[in-house]
Amino acid sequence: EQINKGHYEHYMQKEIHEQPESLTTTMRGRLIRGDSCKAKSVLLGGLKDHLKTIRRSRRLVFIGCGTSYNAALAARPILEELSGVPVTMEIASDLLDRQGPIYREDTAFFVSQSGETADTLNALEYALENGALCVGITNTVGSAISRNTHCGVHINAGCEIGVASTKAYTSQIVVMAMIALVIGDDTISSQGRREAIIDGLFDLPNKVREVLKLDQEMKDLAKLLVSEQSLLVFGRGYNYATALEGALKVKEVSLMHSEGILAGEMKHGPLALVDENLPIVVIATRDACFTKQQSVIQQLHARKGRLIVMCSKGDGSLVCPGDSCRVIEVPQVEDCLQPVINVVPLQLLAYHLTVLRGYNVDQPRNLAKSVTTQ
Ligand code: AGP
Repeated sequence: EQINKGHYEHYMQKEIHEQPESLTTTMRGRLIRGDSCKAKSVLLGGLKDHLKTIRRSRRLVFIGCGTSYNAALAARPILEELSGVPVTMEIASDLLDRQGPIYREDTAFFVSQSGETADTLNALEYALENGALCVGITNTVGSAISRNTHCGVHINAGCEIGVASTKAYTSQIVVMAMIALVIGDDTISSQGRREAIIDGLFDLPNKVREVLKLDQEMKDLAKLLVSEQSLLVFGRGYNYATALEGALKVKEVSLMHSEGILAGEMKHGPLALVDENLPIVVIATRDACFTKQQSVIQQLHARKGRLIVMCSKGDGSLVCPGDSCRVIEVPQVEDCLQPVINVVPLQLLAYHLTVLRGYNVDQPRNLAKSVTTQ
């Protein structure tokens, strides 16, 4: 049943819309509700026997390509906050090009939907040679990465057919947030924060159901943008990864040039691109970076930027500086889970842009679902 399109026209469309269910499956049996004698917690059977080693690691190194790398980047802030261990990110090919340092005291996490990506597999071989503890985070039971790592967590998102990864991305973020929760489980001072995130996880599928109602709005936006040459996406903090991933979705399926930009870097170059023609999505949902993003919006508006602002429900008039600005209001969730919500309208936008531009949604030109050659 998973590998037919049901009532959808394309696999990508189906996979975007089944995220409430795929996320539920990802979390099934892993969240413990707690009671008066037992705290809320997370159980990841695959990591249970290795937690001591992971907590004592010199570094947690997350390695992946494309969307899987972006998912790790989205989870980085919460991994840093809860684990108490330095966290670094590596694009697999770049780690190999540099022969970057991997130590035997490191824990290296290999993030891959297919579990078969050549660059990620080669990076795994390299990390094994260097003696690191290697953990797989994949969607494919029995894949090379799950077989060759010391331990791991399956994301259980269900079979993903569309070349553009959508439901695997949100499930990967949730798995890495759960890994952060498990590693930090021995720290009493963060108990309240962890419980709030666990509550947020329980409610996440419902919030994703809510954000999917923006489908028609995103179709209308796609109609407006269909003939554009380029689209910029500005994000920061938890949502820097959302900007990268949103732009990757737009470029890989709709074949429109798109760049995800770290908003903090705006004045160091990208601002020169801004004029009254270039459409710019700014992600400004509520979190510790909100005030800074409001200032970014003001500066882009002062240069007559064509703004599309993604904000938390009810913030539309607060964040939009003028009538020309378009708003995408999304449900607010716990800050570290907000990337799961915020990416959905961008997935929908990429999908509708592709259909309107007449390109192949599920099999974009020149791309393969799993890149098994270097
Ligand atoms: C995702 O939309 C892309 N097609 C691509 O970036 C993909 O995420 C990348 O090739 C990594 O694949 P993996 O997760 O199977 O390792």
